[in-house]
Parts: sequence; C-alpha cells; structure tokens
Amino acid sequence: MSTLTGKRILLVIAGGIAAYKALDLIRRLRERGASVHAVMTQAAEQFVTPLSVASLSGEKVHTALFSLTDEAEMGHIELSRDADLIVIAPATANILAKIANGIADDLASTLLLATDKKILAAPAMNLRMWLHPATQRNLEWLRANNVAFSGPDNGEMACGEYGPGRMSEPLAIVSAIESIFAQGETTLPLPPGVGVRPSRPPGILAGRRVIVTSGPTHEPIDPVRYIANRSSGKQGTAIAEAAARAGAEVVVISGPVAIPAAAGATTIHVETAREMLEAVSRALPADIFISAAAVADWRVDAAAGDKLKKSGSGAPSLHLVENPDILATISQHPTLRPKLVVGFAAETTGLIEHARQKLARKKCDFIVANDVGAGTGVMGGAQNTVHIVETGSVDSWPKLDKDAVAARLVGLCAQKLAENAQ
Ligand SMILES: Cc1cc2nc3c(=O)[nH]c(=O)nc-3n(C[C@H](O)[C@H](O)[C@H](O)COP(=O)(O)O)c2cc1C
Repeated sequence: MSTLTGKRILLVIAGGIAAYKALDLIRRLRERGASVHAVMTQAAEQFVTPLSVASLSGEKVHTALFSLTDEAEMGHIELSRDADLIVIAPATANILAKIANGIADDLASTLLLATDKKILAAPAMNLRMWLHPATQRNLEWLRANNVAFSGPDNGEMACGEYGPGRMSEPLAIVSAIESIFAQGETTLPLPPGVGVRPSRPPGILAGRRVIVTSGPTHEPIDPVRYIANRSSGKQGTAIAEAAARAGAEVVVISGPVAIPAAAGATTIHVETAREMLEAVSRALPADIFISAAAVADWRVDAAAGDKLKKSGSGAPSLHLVENPDILATISQHPTLRPKLVVGFAAETTGLIEHARQKLARKKCDFIVANDVGAGTGVMGGAQNTVHIVETGSVDSWPKLDKDAVAARLVGLCAQKLAENAQ
C-alpha cells in the first residue's frame, strides 16, 4: 500500500506553460491511492481545459470564487480545509507573489490564504521571472512560512533560455508529497485561544422564551398625523439584548423607533397599541413577558381616511377612546399567562403610589417604576433610575445606564423564575 493511500490532495493549477504536466501528476497521485480535487486559475484554463482535469481527477474542477453552486456544495473555506495537503503545480510567479503578499482575489489565492494545511509548490516560470529579486524575496518569505518547494529544475525553457525555472517532473513532486506526509501532521496549528469557539457557560435564561415590548406606539389621527410619546425604545432594546445574552430566545415587539433593533433577538415592528397587542398575543407562549413599551392609553376613535384640512370653521376635535391594556391582558390571559409578567410604570408624580395601584390593577408580578418627569432626561436618555415595586416592598436602584438596568432586571427575572419553580 502506498503512503498516499486515502490522502486528499487539493491541486491548484496556475497559468503556466507546464500546466499540461499537472495532468500527469493527477494520474500519478491517483495511481497511489490519493484523491485529487483540482482548482484552476483563469490563466490555467488557457493551457489545459477543466474537462481534461475533471476527467483525470474524477472530481468536479473548481474555477470560480463567486459560484453559488460551488459555495453551497463546498465553499472555498471547506475546499481549503477538506484536504490533507495543498499542492500548487505549476506555481506561477504570480501565484507565489499573491501568497507571499496575502492577496486573495480569486478562488485559488483565496483558498491558499484561508487554508490550515501545509502547501507544496512546484514553481515553473521563465528564468528571468525566477531570478527576479521580487520573486526571490517572495520565495524567501514563503520558505520561512510553511511553504515547501519541489524544484524548479534547471533545463531548457519553452522560451529557449537555459537555467532554473522548469517545473519538477510529476514523479519528483509525488516524492516531495510523500516526504511531507512522512514528516507527520500537515495541519498548521493556530495560536492559543483562537480557532475553537470557547464554550460559554449556559446563560441564566437558557431555554427560556422572553417577549419584550419596546418603544412608543403611534396612534393615527389621519394618514399623516399621529399621537405619540417620547419613548426612544432604548430601555426595552437593552432588556431584550441582555435577555438574549443570558441565553433566552427573545422576541421584541417594537413600536416605531429610530434606534437599531436588539442584537440577538427577533424584532417585530408595529405601530399602534392594537397591533402591539396582536403581535404579543401571537408571540405567546413565553416564560417571561416584559412590557417596557410606552403604549398610548388612548387613540383617536375614528382616524380620518384623508388628511384633515383647515376649513375656517375652527380646529377639529379629536374624540379619544381607550386602547386595549396589553399588560393587563397578558397578565390575566386565561391559558397562556407567562410565568413572569413585568410591567413598567413611567410617571411624573406619585411614582410609587401609582406603581402600586398599577400592580394591583394589572395583576403582574412586579412593576419597574421610573420617574420620567421633565428634567430627568429618562425618555430618550442613556440612564434610568428605577424602583422595583412588588406587593409589600419597593427596591430602589441607583441611577444606572439603561444597559446596567437591563442586566440587573434580567438577573432579577431569572431569580424570580427560579423561586417560582420551587
Ligand atoms: C504562453 C504563456 C506562458 C506562460 N507561462 C508562464 C509560466 O510558465 N510561469 C509563470 O509564472 N507565468 C507564465 N505566464 C504568465 C502567467 O500566465 C500570468 O502571470 C498569469 O497572470 C498567471 O496567473 P495565475 O497565477 O493566476 O495562474 C505565461 C503566459 C503566457 C501567455
């Protein structure tokens, strides 16, 4: 049995006159039990056809970096990793220069940069190209950086000159391949700490589903005007991100906001309170519902179908009706009440008292109360001072960044869930 039996060789054929010898190399490798996947540069296709290479290798030949089918079947990263060794034959001055300079502008050079395998190059080029200081400088760098070489040989060139630059004979390349395998491992190690994703401890909300409402709602007056509030969605988004970081599956139902959607969560965009309720209901069941949105209490009874116009007979009067109460509806859901329901109370006066009344009325587990009075800067700002209002207790947190409030709130939710389970 040959030392190459079962070895997977990725052969990069570059655009040199010696490309025809790559066909013989494929044959010799396969005779010895190796499999050969070939990648050809565009220039190589001028010298040998992909069809000849595919016929001899018995494998699909890869030529394009941006090939949807190839990338779906075996992308450039897999191609470069799925082999035991990469062989470039012939290796043109150009491809050696690309590797030495980290250029990745086609399939061959990209996979050569992305590979974690040793590379053996069989250079073939005109004598002056070989002797050129740029090529020699590149070779020096390549030798020092895990690229092995077979050849080039001295001899008569296709261009009529004599000297180094002829590609090694296929059998000499086979011997070089065998000696690389004889040396042992062909996968190059990565520096410590990279490569394998470090395993993270499961988050405190791992396996939990969390629904967060966030931002304001817009209640239309007519097709161009609406009633809204100053909520920015920052606190709700921060909570959603903190819950996602804690390992939860998070759905955010967000009113119209100008900030990016929460990272790590699925965001559903809505406009009105009624749409928000419908979206939350559809997102159930969940373990936790956090109602951080500033939902409009009222909407215009019958929003005008066309833009209201000044008519000379005075301002129109808007008849308001109450919006559905999302927090109370979810908190008192007959079948799908989440294990933990958290409300927010944004008040400008009587903060704790109003929060207590809200807690009793809505039947949620606790209320996060915050003072949003003029001068607090909470609405739209980066910080928040909140009080956790439960039946019989109030825990006042210091002024914190909204991210810190979110992280602490997620911790509290995880703790409550664990207590409830006991
Ligand atoms: C007829 C012909 C023969 C060539 N032979 C070689 C060669 O043996 N070695 C080489 O480095 N370049 C050779 N070249 C130049 C390369 O084809 C050219 O540098 C090309 O950009 C290489 O592209 P690649 O490295 O992506 O395959 C030759 C060009 C022509 C037109």
